[in-house]
Amino acid sequence: MQILDGKLAAQAIKDGLKLEVAQLAANGKEVPHLVAILVGNNGASETYVAAKVKACEEVGFKSTLIRFEASISAFKLLDTIRDLNGDPEVDGILVQLPLPDHISAEEVINCIDPAKDVDGFHPSTVGKLVLGQPTYIPATPYGIMLLLEYYKIETKGKHAVVIGRSNIVGRPMSVLLSGSGNYGNATVTICHSHTKNLKEICATADIIVAALGRPGFVKEDMVKEGAVIIDVGITRIDDSSKKSGYRLSGDVDFAAVAPKASFITPVPGGVGPMTIAALMKNTFKACALKHYDGFLIQN
Ligand code: GUN
Repeated sequence: MQILDGKLAAQAIKDGLKLEVAQLAANGKEVPHLVAILVGNNGASETYVAAKVKACEEVGFKSTLIRFEASISAFKLLDTIRDLNGDPEVDGILVQLPLPDHISAEEVINCIDPAKDVDGFHPSTVGKLVLGQPTYIPATPYGIMLLLEYYKIETKGKHAVVIGRSNIVGRPMSVLLSGSGNYGNATVTICHSHTKNLKEICATADIIVAALGRPGFVKEDMVKEGAVIIDVGITRIDDSSKKSGYRLSGDVDFAAVAPKASFITPVPGGVGPMTIAALMKNTFKACALKHYDGFLIQN
């Protein structure tokens, strides 16, 4: 069994980006600029956004964090996004999800200029992804693809089971793994809350991507010997023995499953850092596409 070290792979990606940014700056070009919008004070969202801002600093991007109270009106939020859409100094815009109940995430996502949609959530971006056209890939599935690439894990002809059908992870993940691009060409089954025989389906998988948000859901008896296990779950569990008051748990029962796996991601330190690195790649791409008119960057 080998651990898929997301920290290591993410660092390699960020190191590469840092060099490219330094080159841009040396040529008098503007460096990529990411704007993150955080509404309210959800603890997990605070942590994720802080990590995104920190990664921008690490690679030499400019970043701006815009914070709003949870009570902000949808009108004001949409107005801010429209301003950012029109600002030539902004390359990437992300609005951290979830949003308060009175704001429609769909309306907010639809408002972001697809050219600045570094989260890859806009319908036009998703459409391109499904069609196999160059576009921004949502950061978590993109990070997983980069991790598979880093460790040269063959997916062609394999049976991949994706547990979870969210727009952010499960659905785009299934598109990428079943697509004809690098680290695609797998036969993909998507499982969700209505799937019958989930355990039996998982037990036939060469690759499992667990993205359902239920701590320790994937058990040893659901996993084939030698399977590749990608754990996207990152749930906070109250734990008074920790300084923070919580510990993080993945969707996979790591201790029980790891001995059967050929490769497995840890939580934390697996998919999480890759998500951030992938977001940095998307932001760089947004900037590069703006600066180099006509220069089509492939995924
Ligand atoms: N909430 C959970 N994951 C994500 C993500 O990748 N992007 C944004 N904007 N919000 C999230």
